[in-house]
Amino acid sequence: MASLVRCLPLLLSLFVISEAREFVVGGNKNKWQVPSSSDEFNKWASKIRFQIGDSIVLKYDSKKDSVLEVTEENYVNCNKSNPIEYYSDGNTKIALDKSGPFFFISGAEGHCEKGQKLEIKVMSANHSRLQPVVPAPLPADIAGHLAPAPAPSAAVSGPKTWWFVTGAVAVGVLSSI
Ligand SMILES: *[C@@H]1O[C@H](CO)[C@@H](O)[C@H](O)[C@H]1NC(C)=O
Ligand SMILES: *[C@@H]1O[C@H](CO)[C@@H](O)[C@H](O)[C@H]1NC(C)=O
Repeated sequence: MASLVRCLPLLLSLFVISEAREFVVGGNKNKWQVPSSSDEFNKWASKIRFQIGDSIVLKYDSKKDSVLEVTEENYVNCNKSNPIEYYSDGNTKIALDKSGPFFFISGAEGHCEKGQKLEIKVMSANHSRLQPVVPAPLPADIAGHLAPAPAPSAAVSGPKTWWFVTGAVAVGVLSSI
C-alpha cells in the first residue's frame, strides 16, 4: 500500500505535466472584476472544455478584490461566509484537480451580486485526454487478477508493471469521482 501511495503522486505529476493548460479567466485582456455584463465570466467559461489537470488564473487588484471558492448554494446566493478556499494574492492560479463543477465568487463587498462570479465545469475523466492511458475497468474481484498486464512501455517491467497499472486504475477511479 505504501508503494502505491508513493507511486500516485508520480503518476499524477506525469499526467499534469503532459496535460496541463492554463486559462486566464475572462481572457488575456480581462481581469477578475465586476464585469460589464453579469454573465460575462460564465460566457467565457462556456466556450472552454475544461479537463482535469487544467488551471485557471485570476488576475485582480489584491487590495480591492479576492477570490472565494464556494459551494453551489453559496455561489447562487453570493454568500461569502465559510468559503471552501480563499485567495487574495492578486494573481491566483487554481488547479482543476477533479471533474464536476467548481464555483467562484468575488470576496469584495457587493461584487458577486453584480455578476462577478464564475462556474467552471470540468469534464469527467471519460471525456478527457487521460482516457487512453487508463486501462479498461477491472472486475470488482481485482484480487483474483493480479497477473502483470502487458507493459505500456518497454521501460516498465516486472512488479513495477503491476504498480503502474494499479496506479493508473487508481488515478482513473480518483479522477472519475
Ligand atoms: C451563508 O452560508 C453559511 C454557511 O455556508 C450559512 O451558515 C449562512 O446561513 C448563509 N447565510 C445566508 C444569508 O444564506
Ligand atoms: C464513464 O463511462 C462509462 C461508460 O461509458 C459510464 O458507465 C461511467 O459512468 C462514466 N463515468 C463518468 C465519471 O462519467
